[in-house]
Amino acid sequence: MRLLIKNGRVIDPSSKTDDTLDLLIERGKIVDIKTKIESKGVKVIDASRLVVAPGFIDMHVHLREPGQEDKETLFTGALAAAKGGFTSIACMPNTNPVNDNRGVTEYILSETKKNSVVNVFPIASITRGQNGAELTDMADLAEAGAIAFSDDGLPIEDSQVMRRALEYSKILKTLIINHCEDKNLSGEGVMHEGYYSYLFGLKGIPASSEETMIARDIILAKKVGTPIHIAHLSVKGAVDIIKEAKKKKVMVTTEVTPHHLFLTDSLLENYDTNLKVNPPIRSEEDAQALIQAVKDGVIDVFASDHAPHTIDEKDVEFDKAPFGINGLETAVSLFLDKLVNKNVISLRKFVGMISTTPAAILGLENKGKICVGADADLTILNLKKEIVVDVNTFKSKSRNNPFHGWKLRGAPVKTIVGGKIVYTSSS
Ligand code: DOR
Ligand code: ZN
Repeated sequence: MRLLIKNGRVIDPSSKTDDTLDLLIERGKIVDIKTKIESKGVKVIDASRLVVAPGFIDMHVHLREPGQEDKETLFTGALAAAKGGFTSIACMPNTNPVNDNRGVTEYILSETKKNSVVNVFPIASITRGQNGAELTDMADLAEAGAIAFSDDGLPIEDSQVMRRALEYSKILKTLIINHCEDKNLSGEGVMHEGYYSYLFGLKGIPASSEETMIARDIILAKKVGTPIHIAHLSVKGAVDIIKEAKKKKVMVTTEVTPHHLFLTDSLLENYDTNLKVNPPIRSEEDAQALIQAVKDGVIDVFASDHAPHTIDEKDVEFDKAPFGINGLETAVSLFLDKLVNKNVISLRKFVGMISTTPAAILGLENKGKICVGADADLTILNLKKEIVVDVNTFKSKSRNNPFHGWKLRGAPVKTIVGGKIVYTSSS
C-alpha cells in the first residue's frame, strides 16, 4: 500500500531540510519527496501545520521481558514507545534471565518481529549474568543481533574487564555503553548527596560516583581507540570531563534523560518514590549544566531510560523502593515544551538528538533520516498541542512517572513504522 504525507513541515537534520513537502511511502520505504506529489490512488495523511520528522529512536529502554512481565512486556513497551513518538527502541539486558546469551537475544528479536509495533534492538550484557567479572560471548551475541553491549543497571567496575570489553567491541565494530557508577562511593545512597539529602535524612549518592568512572572509561576508550557511550549523564562534573575528552577527539558520546534535565533534588521533600532513580535526580546547578551541555553539543542524544516498576513495588518507604522512572510516553512532550517551544534549542537540533544521532551511534544506516530509500519510520508532531500528563492513560503496564499532572505543549500525534501507522492520537 502507498501512503502519502502531504503538506507537512519536513525536518531532516542530515540533509538540513526544513521545508513544506510531500512524502510518498511504498513497501516500507520513502520513495519520493517533492513540493507536490499526486494523491490519486494513495492513502493520504494531511500533515498541514504538523512537523514530519525521521522516526525517533530511544537507545535506552528497559522492557522487562523475559522475566518481569508484571512491570512491562515487549508488547506493552512497544505500544508505549509508539504512543511516545518512538519508532525504534534499544532494550537493556537486565532482564531475568539476563540477555547474556544468544537464546535471549533471539527470543527478543523473534517475539518483537511477531507482535511489536516498533523496531526493538536488543542490547546484550557485557558480563555473564551481569556479574561484572566474566565477559559474555560478544561475537556470538553480535551475530545473533545484539546492537550494543552494556551491563546497565550496574556499572562495569573492574577496569580490566572494561578494557577487554572495549578491545572486543573494537574488533566486532560494536558499541559499549556504560552505566557509570562507583558502587563504593554510592554505597547505600538513595538520592543525590548534598544539602537536601542531609535535610531529608536520606543517604546520598555523590557526584563523584559518576565522575570517577566516566574519567576511567574515557582513559580506556582513548587507549583502545574505540567508541564508548556514557548512559544517563547527571552531573556537572561529568559534563566537564566529557567536554575535555571531546576536545581531545576521544570517541565518547553521551545521553541525557528528561528527569535529569527538568527535575531537581529539592522535589524529593515528599519522599515520592516515583522520583527515586539511578543516577539520582541531581541539584539545580547540575540540571542547568546539563541543559547548557545540550546547547553546546557536549551531550549527543536524548533518551528516556524508561524503567517501569509496579505500583506495589514503588508503594513502600523511600529507602526500599526500586530505582527507576517510566519515561517513554512523556519524554517527547517534555523536550518539546521545555526546550523547543521555549527556544532553548531549535527543532532541528532536537530531532538530531532524538533521531539522527542515535541512529548514527547505533549504526542504523537506513534510519534517522528522511531521504529517498530510507526506512519509512516517521514521527509526526503537533508543536501546539496541549496535554496534561495522566499516568492512567499510559500504554505501559507501569505508572511510575513523576510528571503526572504536568501541563505540556507539543506532542507526537502519529507514529509510522515501516510505512505502517502504529499510533494516532485521539485528539
Ligand atoms: O533507575 C534506574 N532503573 N537505574 C538503573 O540503572 C536501572 C533501572 C532499572 O532497571 O530499573
Ligand atoms: Zn537504564
